[in-house]
Formats: sequence, structure tokens, C-alpha cells
Amino acid sequence: MKIGSIDLGNRPVTLAPMEDVTDASFRILCREAGAAMVTTEFVSSDGLVRDVSKTIAKMHTLEEEAPVAVQIYGSLPDAMVDAARMADKAAELAGGHGADFIDINWGCPVSKIAGRGAGSGMMREPDKLVAITEAIVKAVPDKPVTVKTRLGWDDNSKIIVELAERLQDVGVSALTIHGRTRCQMYKGEADWTLIGEVKNNPRIHIPIIGNGDINSAAKAKEMFDRYGVDGIMVGRASFGHPWIFTEIRHLLDTGEELPPMPVKDRVALAKRHFQLSLDLKGPVTGVYEMRRHLSCYFKGLRDFKETRIKLVTSKDPEEIFATLDYVAQRWGDETPIVEGVYGL
Ligand SMILES: Cc1cc2nc3c(=O)[nH]c(=O)nc-3n(C[C@H](O)[C@H](O)[C@H](O)COP(=O)(O)O)c2cc1C
Repeated sequence: MKIGSIDLGNRPVTLAPMEDVTDASFRILCREAGAAMVTTEFVSSDGLVRDVSKTIAKMHTLEEEAPVAVQIYGSLPDAMVDAARMADKAAELAGGHGADFIDINWGCPVSKIAGRGAGSGMMREPDKLVAITEAIVKAVPDKPVTVKTRLGWDDNSKIIVELAERLQDVGVSALTIHGRTRCQMYKGEADWTLIGEVKNNPRIHIPIIGNGDINSAAKAKEMFDRYGVDGIMVGRASFGHPWIFTEIRHLLDTGEELPPMPVKDRVALAKRHFQLSLDLKGPVTGVYEMRRHLSCYFKGLRDFKETRIKLVTSKDPEEIFATLDYVAQRWGDETPIVEGVYGL
């Protein structure tokens, strides 16, 4: 599967953008585990055009994570176009590698975003959605523009099949579809049938990436086989479980399932993740932002409560590393399996 001139390989599995989760340290870890590409957390177009330094910093990416998309969101056409131009210059403005793709978020369901016409809120105004997308494609002619969206606003307006054609016609290079409507938020099961319909529409030639509820290698393979999508995006199931990319890749490439990862190897990943977090964010923020990840690596371990509390309350990096070593020593050979959607 290719986006623009960048080849993501056969049946690529990508990391979903997730606010407060997919920072650079997690993105690098997922790339190392086998994710074919990653995307930044969503970046506010209003924040970018107002030159808010924290917003600009969200566009900071590293060579190790490439290929990487910078994702922007908003509802104001001029701000979105200016934000796309800024994302195009992310390396200059925020340092680091910059953006290989610019991804537009037309899928966020959260009220404070969608209620203001941004994210999936724009699905109620498909003409405007397409017009802003077209203006962005024209504003950054040298960079592939991709879109991430949902099936539609609600059950009575599942517009994705027609919308996909229109987005392709205005020059979008790839489309990721989360198989829920805005009104479903994250409830119920993702419906992949319309994603399959978009993919199997003979008019569609851009890559179609399916998203929603992939929480095991077997499920990823089933969705590739059943719906013929070009790629699959994994979100919540990667949280506390970034090796899901290794598991999926292994099954797709060899036809065999990997055994569950023993705790000692999970510790090694958690330590690598933590070190990246410290290197990139410093000892205070690096510890603080790692907390939400740390205990999730060890879900399902018996008698873990006390150790979990220590992991998520300690402020001292050395003490956290020592606790992780203790986890490896005490539970190293165990392989707890948590059914269903992991993490979040
Ligand atoms: C905590 C959290 C934050 C998210 N932030 C974003 C975001 O910034 N941009 C975006 O396009 N989607 C965001 N999403 C949606 C995910 O990218 C993905 O579409 C959704 O979780 C469904 O995929 P999954 O079932 O594999 O998790 C977020 C989801 C969660 C749970």
C-alpha cells in the first residue's frame, strides 16, 4: 500500500492517533513493534494559527517514527488551510523530522469538538467538509493529504460511501474510516460492512484503511480477509500492549499466532518506553505522562495491586526502573491474557 510515494508494505497496520496517548515515545515504540506508520495526537488548527507554543510542539516528530502524519482538526476553513501549511513546515516550526503526510480529523466525536462543527461535526456539512479538504490539498501540493473519519453523523446519515468518492476526487491520498457514526461515540461494535463497501467500490482507487475494535491479531487478519481493506489502524488495543503490532504482523506474514508475551519481555518494552519518555520530556513530565501507560503493561497479573500503586505514584525514575526490575523478577515467566479491548 502506498500513500503518495511512500510505500507502507503489504497489508500495513498503523497506529491510531490518540490524544494524550500517542506522543513521540509511544509512537517510536509502536513503530519498533511493527506499526507501518504513526500519527501525532490531533493538533488544533486554531492553536496553530494563534501560534500557541504548546500546540506547535505537538507537531514535533522524530526520524525514528517516520513515516508519520501530523493530524490537524478544526472547523474554520482559513484556519484549517493555514494550519495545514504550518504542518507542512512542521520540521521548521517544531524541530525534528516534520510531517510525511497531513491528516485531517473529520472523525472526533467529543462534544466540545464535534459540537462546534470540527471533527465528525463536519459530517453534517459534507459540502463544507469536501471544500475545506480540497483547499488543504491545494495548499500543500507537495505533501499527501489523508483523511480520518467515521461512517456518518448518525444512523440516518451514513454518508461514507459517497463521501469517500468526493474526497478521492478532490485529491485525498488515503482514507481511514472508523466503523461507527458520531452518535455511537465508542459504543456498540464497529460496523465494518460500510468500510468494505467503500473499499470494494470500483470507483475507489486510493488506499482505504479500516479502523475500529481491532484487539487481536486474529481479528486484524479476519478484517483484512473479509473486507479487503488496504490497511488496518489500531487504537485502544495498543495501549499498554504496543506489541500487538508484532503479533498482527507475525500472523499476517507467517500465518501463525505468536504465543502471549511473557512479563519479562513486557518489562523490557515498558523500560524502553519509559526511557524514551524521560529522554523526550524530562524527569518530571516524563514520569507523570508515563503513569497512565505503566500499569496497563501488566494488566491481568495476580497480586499486582501494591506494585501497581508504586509504579503509578513514584516520582523517582530510578525507583520506577527498580520496581520494573522487581516485576520481571517476580512475575517474569507469567503470560496473563486480557480478553477484549485492552488498556483504555
Ligand atoms: C483516548 C483516545 C484519544 C483519541 N484521540 C484521537 C485523535 O486525537 N485523533 C483521532 O483521529 N482519533 C482519536 N481517537 C480515535 C482513535 O484514533 C480510533 O479511531 C478509535 O479509538 C477507534 O479505534 P480502536 O477501536 O482501535 O480504538 C482517540 C481515541 C481514544 C480512545
